[in-house]
Amino acid sequence: MTTVIDGKQVAASVIDAVKAASAKLEKDTGVKTGLAVIIVGNDPASHAYVNSKSKMAKECGFKSVQHTLPEETTQEELAALVATLNKDPSIHGILVQLPLPKHLNSDPIIQSILPEKDVDGLHVVNAGKLATGDADTGLVSCTPAGAMVFVRRTHGEDLSGLNAVVIGRSNLFGKPMGQLFLAANATVTIAHSRTKDLPAVCRNADILVAAVGRAEMVKADWVKPGATVIDVGINRVAAPEKGEGKSKLVGDVAFDECAKVASVITPVPGGVGPMTIAMLMANTVIAACRSAG
Ligand code: GUN
Repeated sequence: MTTVIDGKQVAASVIDAVKAASAKLEKDTGVKTGLAVIIVGNDPASHAYVNSKSKMAKECGFKSVQHTLPEETTQEELAALVATLNKDPSIHGILVQLPLPKHLNSDPIIQSILPEKDVDGLHVVNAGKLATGDADTGLVSCTPAGAMVFVRRTHGEDLSGLNAVVIGRSNLFGKPMGQLFLAANATVTIAHSRTKDLPAVCRNADILVAAVGRAEMVKADWVKPGATVIDVGINRVAAPEKGEGKSKLVGDVAFDECAKVASVITPVPGGVGPMTIAMLMANTVIAACRSAG
C-alpha cells in the first residue's frame, strides 16, 4: 500500500505548535512575533503565495506586515525598506518574495537582511551554518525544512545507509535540501540539468526529491520500488478535461504512475506547499524567541 502524505494535516500540527509558542512568548515577555513580507511587481502567482503567508501570520497571532511595491521600484528603494525593517524591533522575520523583477538584483538585497531576521534561510550566514553543522543556531530555508519533516516521519532522524537524490540545485531548495540530508547521514546526490542519465540516477534513490519546475517530468520507471518520493514542483498546466481554458496545478512527478511504484509520496497540491508556509511561521517565532533572549 502506498502512503500519500497529507501535507495540510502535518502543516496544521506545526501551525498549532507555532500558535502556542507565540502566545507563550507574548504572555511571558510581552513580545509579539512580527513578520514583514515584501513583494515587488505584479506576478499573480507570487501575489497569491505572499497573501497566504501574510494571512497565516495573522492566524498565528503575529504582527503581519505586507509591503506591496510597484514593478518600477528601484534597487535603492528596496534596500532602504529592508534597512528600515532590520532596525524595527517589532519585526523578527523579513521575507523578500522571489523572483524579483528583472531590473532588480536579488542577491545584495537578500544579503542585506540581518541573518537573525532571515526567515527564508538565504543569507550566507544561515546557509553557512547549515553547511557546517550549526543549523540549530541559524534559520533553515522553509521548503527543504518542511520536506525534511515528511522524511523524518517516514524514516526517523537517522538516514544512515539511505541514498537521497535531489533533482535541482537552487539556493532556495536543492542545496539546503542536500545539506539537511547530509546532516542526517544520508548518501546524497544533487542532480540537475547537466546530469547524465537522470532516470538511472533517480532509480538509485531511496528518497527522491524533485524540484525542477517541469510538469510531471519524473516517471514511474525513474522510481525505485518502495522509495519515498517528495514532489516540490508547482506547475500550472492546461486542463481541457475541466473545460475550455481551464488549468490545474501539477508537480514535477507524474503522480498516478509513480504512486504505484513508491511506498510514500507527496501530492501536488496539498503536499510540500502547506509545509513551506508552516515552516516560515516556525522560523519567525524562533527568531522572535531568540530576540527576546
Ligand atoms: N519564491 C518561491 N518560493 C519562495 C520562498 O520560499 N521564499 C521566497 N522568498 N521566495 C519564494
